[in-house]
Amino acid sequence: MNTNKFVAFITHKITLIIVSLISAFTSFFFYSCRANYVFLDYTVFNGISYLLLSLMIINTLLLLFLYIAEAYGLKLKERYFSETKTFAALSIIGFELCIVFAIGVMVNMIVAGEETFPVIMKMAAKNFPAFAAIATIVFFISVFPSLKNKTLKIVTVASTAICLFIVSLWVLAPVCNYKITSAPLVIDSGEDYYSVVFATNDEGTGYVEYEYEGETVRLYDEAMGRIKGDSKIHTVKVPKQQLDGNTYRIGSKRVVEAYSYGSYTGKEAISGEYTFNAPEGETQQWLTVSDWHTRLDKAYDALSYAGDYDGVILLGDSAPGLMFEDEIKDYIVEFGGNICKGSVPVVFIRGNHETRGEYAAKLPDYLGMESFYYTTSYGNFDFIVLDSGEDKVDSHPEYGGMVNYAEYRKNMTEWLETLTPSDNIPIVFSHSNEICIEEDLRNRAFASLKNLGAKYIVSGHTHTNEFFEYNGLSVYLDGGHKNGVFIASKITLSADGILFQAWNNEGQKVFDNTYKF
Ligand SMILES: [Fe+2]
Repeated sequence: MNTNKFVAFITHKITLIIVSLISAFTSFFFYSCRANYVFLDYTVFNGISYLLLSLMIINTLLLLFLYIAEAYGLKLKERYFSETKTFAALSIIGFELCIVFAIGVMVNMIVAGEETFPVIMKMAAKNFPAFAAIATIVFFISVFPSLKNKTLKIVTVASTAICLFIVSLWVLAPVCNYKITSAPLVIDSGEDYYSVVFATNDEGTGYVEYEYEGETVRLYDEAMGRIKGDSKIHTVKVPKQQLDGNTYRIGSKRVVEAYSYGSYTGKEAISGEYTFNAPEGETQQWLTVSDWHTRLDKAYDALSYAGDYDGVILLGDSAPGLMFEDEIKDYIVEFGGNICKGSVPVVFIRGNHETRGEYAAKLPDYLGMESFYYTTSYGNFDFIVLDSGEDKVDSHPEYGGMVNYAEYRKNMTEWLETLTPSDNIPIVFSHSNEICIEEDLRNRAFASLKNLGAKYIVSGHTHTNEFFEYNGLSVYLDGGHKNGVFIASKITLSADGILFQAWNNEGQKVFDNTYKF
C-alpha cells in the first residue's frame, strides 16, 4: 500500500469509526484491569496507570471527532478539515496510538494469567452496562445522523429497540433457575455453634431445618428477627449439640426485591438430607488444603487420593483477593462445601489473600465467625488457630493504605499469651508459619506456643510441601498450587503421634511420615 492509499485508508470515515470503537473498548478493558494498576504505578511512577487511561479516552474522543469532521463535512476557513494535512496527521497519530494501546492492553490481559483474568472479566461485567449506555448515547448523537443508508438506519433502530425491550423485560422479571450450588460448609470456629454456610445462584433467604428432641427446628440467616435476603451466601448458626450426630436440610427462597410494604420473591430451593458428625475418637483424620488460588479442579483431584477423613482444615489463600461476593461464594463456600459435603466440620484459617479487596472486611460475617484466631477441641486434641494477617508491612502499596495488621497481630499475640496449658495435645494452624512478621511478636508467639506444649505447626503460604524445624517447633507445609501442580495433605492424629501424608493432583504420594508427640 503506497503512502497516498495508506492515508486515504486511515482517514476514511469507516476506518475512523471502527478505530474509535476499538479505542473505546481498549479504554474500557484497561479500566477493567485497574485492580492491578498498583504494580505498574509501583514499577514506573505513581499515577502512570490513570495517565495512560486518560490518554486512551482522549484518543477515543479524538478519533470520534475526526469521524464527525469527515462525515458531516466540517469546514475550517472555507476549507473542509478532512482535506487538510492536520486531519491526516491526527488520523495517523490516533490510529497508531489505538494500535499500540490495544496491543498493550491485550498483552496485559494475556499475562494476567488464569488467576487474575477472571477478576478482569468480573470488573468488565460490572461496568459494562454503564459503558454500553454511554456508547449507545454517543452513537445516536454523533454517528447515527450521519448514516446515509436508509436500510442501515432502520436495522440500527430496530436492533436497539429489541435490545431495550429485552433489557426492560429482564429488569421487570429476571429469569433464573434458582438452586443451591453446593453442599454446605460447616465451620467450627471454637464457639458453641457451627456456622452452616451455603450458596445459591441468586440472592435469597437461607435456613437450616432439623429434628431435635421431637421438635422441628428451622433456623434462618437473620439479624434481630429480620431474615436476610440480599446475598447469594447464606450463613446460619446452629448450636453444636443440636447438629452433632443429627441429620438436616438446607433451604433458600429467592428474593428479587424486598420492599417497605411486601417483597418480590421467587422459587424455593431445598436440599436433600445431610448427616453431620464431628470427630471425637482417639484417631482422627483431617484433610488440609492451602493456597488453591482458584485452582479448584486440581485441588479436588489431589484431595481425591486422600481416602476417608473426619474433618477438613482450610489453610487459606483461596483467590487473589476478595473483590466480589462471588469470590467468597466460588472459592471458599462452594469449594469448602464440596469437600466437607456438609457432613464433617471445617476449620477455617484466613490466608493473606483473604485480607484483600472490598469484601475482605465482610468475610467474618459471611462465614459466621467471631474471630480468625481461636481454639477448638476434638477428643484429645486442642487446635490453636492463628491468623498471620499479611506478609508485608502495612505501608506496602499493595494494601493501598487499607490495613492495620501490625496492631491486629499484637492483639492476637496478647490473646495467645492468655491461653493456659490443658491435658489435651495442642496442634497449631496458621497460614504462614512465621505467624508474625514482627520479630518481637513472633518470638512472643512461639514462646507462648511452647509454653502451651505445642510441637507442631501446620501451615501453607509458600505453596510447597515441606517439613522443618522453626523457632523450636516442627513445621509442616501442606502444599498448595505451584507451576501447574497441586499438593494436598491429610494429617492423622492418634496416640502414636501425627502422620503427615500428601498427594499431588496426579495421584503421586509425595509425603508420608509419622512423628511422635
Ligand atoms: Fe499466602
